[in-house]
Amino acid sequence: MSESEHGSPDSSICLLGEAPAAEEMRKGEPFVGQAGGVLDRCLLAAGIDRNRCYIVNTFPFPVQKDVSGNILHNGERLWTKDRGLTEIGMATARTAREKLRASGANVIVPLGGTALSLLAPQTKGQIGKWRGSILEWGGRKFVPSFHPATVCWGSTHQQHVIATDLVRVKEQSAFPDIQRR
Ligand code: URA
Repeated sequence: MSESEHGSPDSSICLLGEAPAAEEMRKGEPFVGQAGGVLDRCLLAAGIDRNRCYIVNTFPFPVQKDVSGNILHNGERLWTKDRGLTEIGMATARTAREKLRASGANVIVPLGGTALSLLAPQTKGQIGKWRGSILEWGGRKFVPSFHPATVCWGSTHQQHVIATDLVRVKEQSAFPDIQRR
């Protein structure tokens, strides 16, 4: 089965991941593996019901990472630490962009640098710098946060940070306007 989206495109919150892993491909649903467990804990801590979120991924299939953290698929670079999404990466993420545009979410939440660079290429995916900020993509509001997999790698502090960002996301999901502080 292929990876697919979760929830209704009309949900007020849209979560944007990076790419499905083997578990997600098997179950045909995003964030159902280890990173999904972390995401669920962060959503719970922020008082957000996962079933009321629309969840999609930037890339539709599993990807590989090289030692520098660049993202590859079949030997092609989709995302690099220096430049963010490459031309091939942008083309591969076309369906994700279309899904985001068609969704009625009041706030989009790119999780991690790859998803951030899809909406804001100029950030080069520097998630540590931009997480928790209220930003704009084509008139739509988005608030980026760390990818839950960074918690799987051992940084439990990041789990608290993600939950804190999601509290802001919950507030922001009540209205579509972009009101920067
Ligand atoms: N990581 C992602 O970015 N997306 C998933 O669906 C699972 C893990």
